[in-house]
Amino acid sequence: MKLVVFCLFAVCCGSLASTSTNKPDVPLQIRKLEEVLRQMEALRGNMQNNDQMLNTPPVDIEDVCCLSALQCLSASLNVQYNVTENKPKTKLLKSLRSHITVRGLCNAGSVQSTCQDCASHPKENATTFFNRLESFIQKAITRLYMI
Ligand SMILES: *[C@@H]1O[C@H](CO)[C@@H](O)[C@H](O)[C@H]1NC(C)=O
Ligand SMILES: *[C@@H]1O[C@H](CO)[C@@H](O)[C@H](O)[C@H]1NC(C)=O
Repeated sequence: MKLVVFCLFAVCCGSLASTSTNKPDVPLQIRKLEEVLRQMEALRGNMQNNDQMLNTPPVDIEDVCCLSALQCLSASLNVQYNVTENKPKTKLLKSLRSHITVRGLCNAGSVQSTCQDCASHPKENATTFFNRLESFIQKAITRLYMI
């Protein structure tokens, strides 16, 4: 009897442990990040000849500053390209702010006081901005595929 109870307990704990890791979310996060890349391509196509400059975090951003970098990229996009109707931008921003995107991109991310302020990141042209955003997302997808 004791053994049966122990076994039930172990099975129960085992299933709890597996649902508390974020493994089941990984395929969903990958799909979401790939969607973000497609939406980014749509917007990038529209912005080829745009001379606006955007605050852009560096490529080698530390993991602890991942969330801060993501917020900076979103904020830069939000203030730039303000035309009355910009569907690709609205879609991309919505995806970037989705909690699935946030967890996929910055699994250990937390806002640290030591992270650089968005306004202190140098302003880059649209080409560089989109390349930076792309590699940020691509890096996270590669990491998720290895989980
Ligand atoms: C751009 O548009 C957004 C949303 O409509 C608005 O919140 C923001 O203040 C605008 N920024 C500028 C610089 O006009
Ligand atoms: C954008 O900036 C990069 C790096 O500063 C530069 O190499 C590139 O020529 C610029 N592109 C355009 C279209 O101005």
